[in-house]
Amino acid sequence: MQGSANLNLMKKAARKVGRALVKDFREVENLQVSSKGPGDFVTRADREAEKLLRAELLGGRPTYGFLGEESAETEGADPTRRWIVDPLDGTTNFLHGLPHWAISIGLEHKGEIVAGVIFDPAKDEMFWAEKGGGAWMNESRLRVSGRRQMIESIFATSVPFGGKGTLPASLQDIARLAPVTAGVRCWGSAALNLAYVAAGRFDGYWARGMQPWDIAAGIVLVREAGGMVSAIREGDEPLVKGAILCANEPLFEGFRKVIRGE
Ligand code: IPD
Ligand code: CA
Ligand code: CA
Repeated sequence: MQGSANLNLMKKAARKVGRALVKDFREVENLQVSSKGPGDFVTRADREAEKLLRAELLGGRPTYGFLGEESAETEGADPTRRWIVDPLDGTTNFLHGLPHWAISIGLEHKGEIVAGVIFDPAKDEMFWAEKGGGAWMNESRLRVSGRRQMIESIFATSVPFGGKGTLPASLQDIARLAPVTAGVRCWGSAALNLAYVAAGRFDGYWARGMQPWDIAAGIVLVREAGGMVSAIREGDEPLVKGAILCANEPLFEGFRKVIRGE
């Protein structure tokens, strides 16, 4: 499977930034034992990664807009298309030397995500999808899991940290969900959670308080892998409201009912 010119640009940009971040990650492992710790270094690495992505993506498509986590939004001459980018999703993992983080690049056209790349350089796993072209990991086609029973299924989430207001609701979600499933996982990267649902590794994922760059690329990956994606509240848009839920088709309604408390 080849993918479009846009996808090639996205993958090339992700690989380039991936190489830089892998070098930084090795340095973080060294800094772990220093008295200053790796905090400032990681903040710099994060910003540098976004600069590099911006240069690559806007270099290739100068008329597109750019929304990234680390800098002010740039409006493009073409108002219908924009890159939505998280240069490093899973910063806390990165900071702690945990090899579970990713670069996430989504392409939005007229309000819809039409292509997505999520690259995990530590495991050399490139997840990618384009509307109508299926979802892929490296050269293999992806499909959401085939499980039909909640009690056999694993659901991932992003537990809010650092005093975020969505914590009580998220804890309530877990209290309702955990007893009726095979387990809940919170591995610290929203982008990889979505990629893993697309890959059938997790059976579903939900989270509150997400930003567009956390979930843009993952939305098209899950849909193209045959999964269903919605906001938590009826009628909301996940990208706008930041409360997202996804699963394979057989599990989706039951899972959504539990999270909605119905
Ligand atoms: C975070 C991660 C984490 C989620 C947070 C996000 P960052 O992104 O995706 O899993 O719980 O809400 O902000 O800060 O590492 O890019
Ligand atoms: Ca993020
Ligand atoms: Ca980030």
